[in-house]
Amino acid sequence: MSSVIVELGARSYPVLIGSGLLPQVGHLLHSHGLGGRVLVGTNPLLQRYFGAPLEAALRAAGLEVSWHIVQAGERAKRLSNVEAACQAAIAAGLDRGGLVLALGGGVIGDLLGFTAAVLYRGVSFVQVPTTLVAMVDSSVGGKTGVNSRLGKNLIGAFWQPSLVVADLDTLRSLPARELRCGMGEVIKHGCILDRQLFERLEAELQPGQPTDYPLTARTGLSAELLQNCVERSCELKGAVVAADERESGQRAWLNFGHTFGHALEQVAGYGKLHHGEAVAIGCILAAQLGERRGDLPAGTAGRIAKVCAAAGLPTRLPAGTDPEAVQAVMQRDKKVRDGRLRLVLLRSLGEAMVVDDTPPALVREVLVAASREADDGDR
Ligand SMILES: NC(=O)c1ccc[n+]([C@@H]2O[C@H](COP(=O)([O-])OP(=O)(O)OC[C@H]3O[C@@H](n4cnc5c(N)ncnc54)[C@H](O)[C@@H]3O)[C@@H](O)[C@H]2O)c1
Repeated sequence: MSSVIVELGARSYPVLIGSGLLPQVGHLLHSHGLGGRVLVGTNPLLQRYFGAPLEAALRAAGLEVSWHIVQAGERAKRLSNVEAACQAAIAAGLDRGGLVLALGGGVIGDLLGFTAAVLYRGVSFVQVPTTLVAMVDSSVGGKTGVNSRLGKNLIGAFWQPSLVVADLDTLRSLPARELRCGMGEVIKHGCILDRQLFERLEAELQPGQPTDYPLTARTGLSAELLQNCVERSCELKGAVVAADERESGQRAWLNFGHTFGHALEQVAGYGKLHHGEAVAIGCILAAQLGERRGDLPAGTAGRIAKVCAAAGLPTRLPAGTDPEAVQAVMQRDKKVRDGRLRLVLLRSLGEAMVVDDTPPALVREVLVAASREADDGDR
């Protein structure tokens, strides 16, 4: 087991990463000074997969456990579910000394984290992430919240967990497509913060390479590389959060690929491209823009595309994507100020920057060129 500390003074917390951690969760809570009654929030599928070993682990450590089950999927991230979770906790007798534990991916983590933030004006929160996206991204950093009819993640709070326990064994049942989305975030971390990580992925991610680790058979990801990717991503994201918890500066770098990606998701129709897939294409487009601006050496976007392809991620726009429509959505992005689009681009591979001086004509050129090479559907 390895441990990455997110340094936030009195609110610092460890992210524990390894195999076989789920059956030790009760003991791990105790050894980190956490106890009391526990409300575990999850969805029916994950309760079926991991509920029994988690409950046994918590009870073995003398903890009282109650469950709060929400439906699977993004629709669970809604305010009425926060109220329901709070009521479940209060009805179960969870007091201010108790804790809320999220067992699941980013949806469960965001929902239960926000619940922990508002229950009695804040109780302890523990994340047990079960998707790669949650392990490398959403469980670290304290952004919690739910969606509104008017947009994603509009209602929420910063509320840091007290402990994150990432048991890599839980990923064995994760669908390969979800695993790839997590790899998209790891690749993003390499692009914006760590050239060495990027180059390691470039060298070692080999599609179709035989592996004895069933989870990774279709992704070319060895068990060792997977563990290293989770550790390094948590270190990188943890350091960014430690320096800029409330996103007034460097934390914005984590949005690399997202302005293009969100627009692609919207134009393709929500659900067609998974978020991680749209962000992967967005990272490639952002690097292409960087090349056109003269910030990046020619070939950088191609290198990113190759790594994404090796991870099984899409690298081209979906067939029929209208570049004008994508640009129109980008122009409505919340980061537009006085008509100027703020974009996270790369200063070099391994370092990002925020710019607001990109001529719209250049963005258009990138999108038009990409639409000419759109995916013909044979992926
Ligand atoms: N708070 C943050 O900083 C942050 C960062 C990134 C994303 N997010 C949020 O995270 C959400 C996306 O999270 P996600 O990608 O983890 O998706 P998710 O939570 O929707 O999980 C994806 C699917 O995988 C299933 N699943 C989860 N673990 C499994 C396992 N071990 N085996 C089998 N199936 C499993 C889930 O039931 C779900 O159907 C979005 O709502 C996004 O806004 C938040």
